[in-house]
Amino acid sequence: MDKKVLVIGSGGREHAIVKSLLKSPKVKKVYCAPGNAGIAQDAECVDISPTDIESLVNFAQRHSIDLTIVGPEASLEAGISDALKSVGLKVFGPSKAAAQIESSKEFAKKLMEKYKIPTAGYKSFDNFDEAWEYVKSNPLPTVIKYDGLAAGKGVVVAFTEKEAEDALRDMLLDLSFGKGKVVIEEFLAGQEFSFMCFVNGDKVYPLELAQDHKRAFDNDQGPNTGGMGAYSPVPFISDKMKERALNEIMKPTAKGLLDEGVPFCGVLYGGLILTDEGPKVIEFNARFGDPETEVVLPRLESDIYDFFTAVLDQKDYIPEWSRDAVLGIVLASKGYPGNYEKGEIIKGLERLGGEVYHMGTSKDGDDIKINGGRVLMVTGRGDDLAQANLNALKEISLIECPALFYRKDIGKVALNR
Ligand code: AMP
Ligand code: GLY
Repeated sequence: MDKKVLVIGSGGREHAIVKSLLKSPKVKKVYCAPGNAGIAQDAECVDISPTDIESLVNFAQRHSIDLTIVGPEASLEAGISDALKSVGLKVFGPSKAAAQIESSKEFAKKLMEKYKIPTAGYKSFDNFDEAWEYVKSNPLPTVIKYDGLAAGKGVVVAFTEKEAEDALRDMLLDLSFGKGKVVIEEFLAGQEFSFMCFVNGDKVYPLELAQDHKRAFDNDQGPNTGGMGAYSPVPFISDKMKERALNEIMKPTAKGLLDEGVPFCGVLYGGLILTDEGPKVIEFNARFGDPETEVVLPRLESDIYDFFTAVLDQKDYIPEWSRDAVLGIVLASKGYPGNYEKGEIIKGLERLGGEVYHMGTSKDGDDIKINGGRVLMVTGRGDDLAQANLNALKEISLIECPALFYRKDIGKVALNR
């Protein structure tokens, strides 16, 4: 039919949302602001920053956009959802107030405490000496989190006092992420999984599960990143356990936000961990996960435009999912999540047959170049994860770019079960 959709953002997540929307016969045109070199092959990219709220609203009005899907947290925090709604436009993404579930760890922790949602014990500090005293008088390992947006990088799991001290110094004295607080958390042990739900008020629509790989290098070594690979489904979380996470975590959180007067509309992302006591929350995000979206949305068989519409109208909707497994491996710039070079040409992309999502690329004439830390997400699909893994690796072998690296063990935990 004739629907026009605007997707905000420029990563692999937005590329996957764009591709999913294009499968809908209801969608006539997809715009992406600002998009990237890969997204430009599928949608019309518009050069507007995700935080330039005024220009985005003007664009949406001028082009009579039927629905806007918001990718990045920065855009939500800048109030894109409130601004679009105030001029009568439909948007899938929470208000600035509800997005605090991600933008403020203290807000999230207080909400979980009040509504008895299982999570790690914590304490919040803005003073280095007090934080350091607290660390010294509590068991290790301990988890130190910068309380604000740090693109998944403001978290240190400290196994020694030295690591903890360095992290506190970095965050509270050297102000590496800006002036702010830290949250010090109890360490939880278990397998992590990502549970994204579409939410509108107290209506919660669960998606299929995925597992992300946050550490930079194989065997979960190296620093935390935005995510180096993911797969879906997650075989070690049974349907019963998923139901428990839905009823004990995702539904009460949506209801809690509603009761607090900050109803949530968009994707509520639960970063969960399966402990001996059951599933607990590591973090919430107020948006689609990246790279989880690139392995979950390709398994959606229902029309995503219908799904979004049902959620916005708070109608019942049960989506259909493919039984296929999808596994994706991130190709990142050497040096990421630290310093890295941009501009290297990526060769061989035209040889790939499967789905590739661009995370940080730019176009220069006919060349596709590196333009970010996480550059490409190459996915494989198959009857099971082993097949999906082989297919993804086969695709990667066709890409030539010495400036890129990737983890070779994505999905290993699930494959070895
Ligand atoms: P976050 O950005 O809060 O998701 O944290 C990044 C990563 O740090 C998580 O994916 C976990 O691997 C680890 N992490 C964070 N909090 C905890 C915790 N309380 N216990 C154990 N690991 C954690
Ligand atoms: N993959 C984790 C995130 O999107 O924050």
